[in-house]
Amino acid sequence: MSEQARFPDGFRWGAATAAYQVEGATDADGRAPSVWDTFVRRPGAVLGGDTGDVAVDHYHRFREDVAIMRDLGLTSYRFSVSWPRAQAPGGRGLGFYDRLVDALLDAGVEPWPTLYHWDLPQTLEDAGGWPERDTAHRFADYAAEVHAVLGDRVRNWLTVNEPWCAAFLGYASGDHAPGRREPAAALRAAHHLMLGHGMAVQAMRAQRPDNRFGAAVNLYAVSPASDAEADVDAARRVDGLQNRFFLDPLLLGRYPEDVLADVERYGFAPSDADLATIRQPIEHLGVNYYSRHTVSGDPDSAPQAASSPFAEHSPWVGSEHVRFPSTGRPTTGMGWEIDPSGLTEVLVRLHREYPAVDLYVTENGAGYQEEPANGTVHDAERIRYLDGHLRACRDAIDAGAPLRGYFTWSLLDNFEWAWGYSRRFGLVHVDYATLRRAPKDSARWYAEVIRRGGPGA
Ligand code: NOJ
Repeated sequence: MSEQARFPDGFRWGAATAAYQVEGATDADGRAPSVWDTFVRRPGAVLGGDTGDVAVDHYHRFREDVAIMRDLGLTSYRFSVSWPRAQAPGGRGLGFYDRLVDALLDAGVEPWPTLYHWDLPQTLEDAGGWPERDTAHRFADYAAEVHAVLGDRVRNWLTVNEPWCAAFLGYASGDHAPGRREPAAALRAAHHLMLGHGMAVQAMRAQRPDNRFGAAVNLYAVSPASDAEADVDAARRVDGLQNRFFLDPLLLGRYPEDVLADVERYGFAPSDADLATIRQPIEHLGVNYYSRHTVSGDPDSAPQAASSPFAEHSPWVGSEHVRFPSTGRPTTGMGWEIDPSGLTEVLVRLHREYPAVDLYVTENGAGYQEEPANGTVHDAERIRYLDGHLRACRDAIDAGAPLRGYFTWSLLDNFEWAWGYSRRFGLVHVDYATLRRAPKDSARWYAEVIRRGGPGA
């Protein structure tokens, strides 16, 4: 790995958040409930019974947060638009994003909105949710409405975030909202999330052909636990459902044949017309990378890696017996193994095996249970994690991958879904009692990285 990892001029340096995880103000200004507002109230769904009702109150404190971004020298900020907020009557919810975008531009920070980061309006879930085709149409309508308001100032757009999680944690394992355990419905949900992406890109591009569009997918490096045939095949299936099931339709216009065979018993039958819609030309692909999956096909091996503290049901539709044995690598506070080389591998694979699009790491970070000592969080482990992954990005660029930017997850500590507030990913610590923000050591370190154009020696 390179000692001095300088990045190309114009490389975007960012941080990311998502609406339900930071905004709070869940009933302000006419916002209707999303599936997460409902799910968090289900006993046992979220650790500690935590909710996003207040979160870190970004809705009311966004000016303070934008000032923090400016102080850190961020050049880009990735946030998500809450669908039920955007639909509040009289444009009152959309007004928030309008003000946020203006504040960002005033601070010299480029806005990068994501249109779907998991907060489906509850009314649409009541009508069947993502397993219903109509939800894709509704998503495209909503995307066009937001884009009509912000598209004059926002150039770069992301449609759906981590459709794997939305579909398979939401509708197969039930670890995430809406908490359903229906494998066939989860496959349809995945397809309709992708279809919604394609329809939304079509609708937005018709409004402004000069804007840039893409989706953010969560990709893993995947390795078999051994050379045994069962492990190699399990790794193929996990790579299939986690990575290729989304990349192939998005970038190649087809589903991988082997995955279609793995899920055959669920009657998944996408049409060619849908695949043509999904494969819209896109300008960029967002890659969320956290870890490597090491996969075993032996049902008696160690238990599967937890996708939530309550993971009991498998999200691996068509491959329920796969397991994720520990390799002994160090882990973050989420229990996720740390392997920066996997990020290089993922980015280089995209460059070599798929049509060229600009790549952005739209999430990468480390969650821990941590509290301040003498007023500051000394998060040396997070710094080490981020430093290693930035060097891995640099290695990918050296290998030819068209990586144009990097967003760390997350700007602020926030609501970590089924883990509630028990795990912190922020560069900036938030005291949940007072909502006071305090930059951690990693925030100061990241500001220095940005100033120097890469991590130092
Ligand atoms: C993926 C998700 O997009 C984000 O919402 C989540 O908080 C982080 N990864 C960490 O788990």
